[in-house]
Amino acid sequence: MTGEPTTAGRLLRFEIFRYNPEDPASVPRMQTFELRETPYLSLFIALNRIREEQDPSLQFDFACRSAICGSCGMLVNGRPALGCKTLTSALPDVIRLHPLPVFKLIGDLSVDTGTWFREMVEKTAGWIEPKSAFDPDAEEERMDDDLSQAIYERDRCIECGCCIAACGVSNLNADFLGPAGLNRVARFMLDPRDARADGDWFEVVAGADGVFGCIGMMACEDTCPKELPLLEVNAYLRRKMLTTR
Ligand code: SF4
Ligand code: SF4
Ligand code: FES
Repeated sequence: MTGEPTTAGRLLRFEIFRYNPEDPASVPRMQTFELRETPYLSLFIALNRIREEQDPSLQFDFACRSAICGSCGMLVNGRPALGCKTLTSALPDVIRLHPLPVFKLIGDLSVDTGTWFREMVEKTAGWIEPKSAFDPDAEEERMDDDLSQAIYERDRCIECGCCIAACGVSNLNADFLGPAGLNRVARFMLDPRDARADGDWFEVVAGADGVFGCIGMMACEDTCPKELPLLEVNAYLRRKMLTTR
């Protein structure tokens, strides 16, 4: 036999929230699972191993495994994070997992972020209202590089819901647009193809359910797995409102 001797990894203790709201007999509780740590173990792999080897009824969401689809947000030791992007090596021996708050619970760690984001998009009309009818024969319109980069920066949101779960205001006020909603408005405000004037957008974001509801404690920016500059977005919207006549 050649090669390095294998050393046993840490014995990790997972305490996982269990509850099935569809089952009247189900009671919210924490369930403990143990798993031997292996190199580069992510929560995505750990949860799949627990489900395959210990409890096939465990519910959680994953699709892309690479921080793109936004479906694996959960509270990891109390902090919103993506399960696929979180390595157990960055965590202590005891790992507590809860579903993201704010969103409707489907079961265990699985939540319905889709309905929240669809309602937010409808509330903000977060899409392009074109200035003129689409002409398939027209030449492609050019956009300034810096402007397209600024739009792209705000477009990187993967709608994972981590910022919403971290935001104290979103937890208390279901009508608050939340950091992801304000980011979406800021993204379309920048877009020169959109027909709406700044004043139309202010109707959407002014007030306590919009940018003035934010208390600026930075939890959104601190937890966004895509590192979006969410506080800068809020400052941009406020500044625009104060300086636009
Ligand atoms: S800074 Fe504002 S939007 Fe971000 S988490 Fe705090 S209250 Fe919510
Ligand atoms: S802004 Fe960041 S944390 Fe919030 S939903 Fe988008 S990617 Fe997730
Ligand atoms: S599985 Fe897609 S973001 Fe984690």
